[in-house]
Amino acid sequence: MNQAVLILIKPDGLKKSLTGNILTRLSETKLEIVAAKIVRVPRELAEEHYKHLKDKPFFNDIIQYIQGELHDRKKVLALVYWGKDAIKKCRELAGATNPEEAEATSIRGSYGRITTSGVYENVIHVSSDESEAQREIKLWFGPDEIIVELYPYKKIVCKECTRTAWA
Ligand code: PPS
Repeated sequence: MNQAVLILIKPDGLKKSLTGNILTRLSETKLEIVAAKIVRVPRELAEEHYKHLKDKPFFNDIIQYIQGELHDRKKVLALVYWGKDAIKKCRELAGATNPEEAEATSIRGSYGRITTSGVYENVIHVSSDESEAQREIKLWFGPDEIIVELYPYKKIVCKECTRTAWA
């Protein structure tokens, strides 16, 4: 069954110059990249993304982490992969959420670590299931930024809106 999955290469992955390695590993899946962008993550987006973890003791740490406050890299690379069993395939390559438990050859097993305060710095986020993937993809991308039609969308005509354009 074709699925979409949100992948985030987190600020530690960017700082450690792992983008190429991670994309090469993900290309083993033969899935298609249907959206990609570099994002400077506002606090509201970070909090909405991790809202199910609001009550966890590490919530504030992961918000700072995904915003790049801990790595002097205030950006993430956000991608949508699409194809057969995309979530399972990407999660297998990523490895367990806890980098200490991840298989050594997985992305997180190879490059992740746990900080002294117990926060997982696991270089990559992968949506956990189809409903989370839909929620996360709609949060990180607009319909115009994805080259296939994943979900129903509507057209909005705005007469008075302000946007930037090349001068
Ligand atoms: S998952 O993988 O999404 O199903 O796991 P979930 O438990 O929903 O997400 C947990 C996210 O919090 C990050 N994180 C930690 N989890 C547990 N314990 C500790 N100490 C911890 N530190 C950070 C974890 O990496 C998950 O984020 P993502 O972005 O999915 O990796």
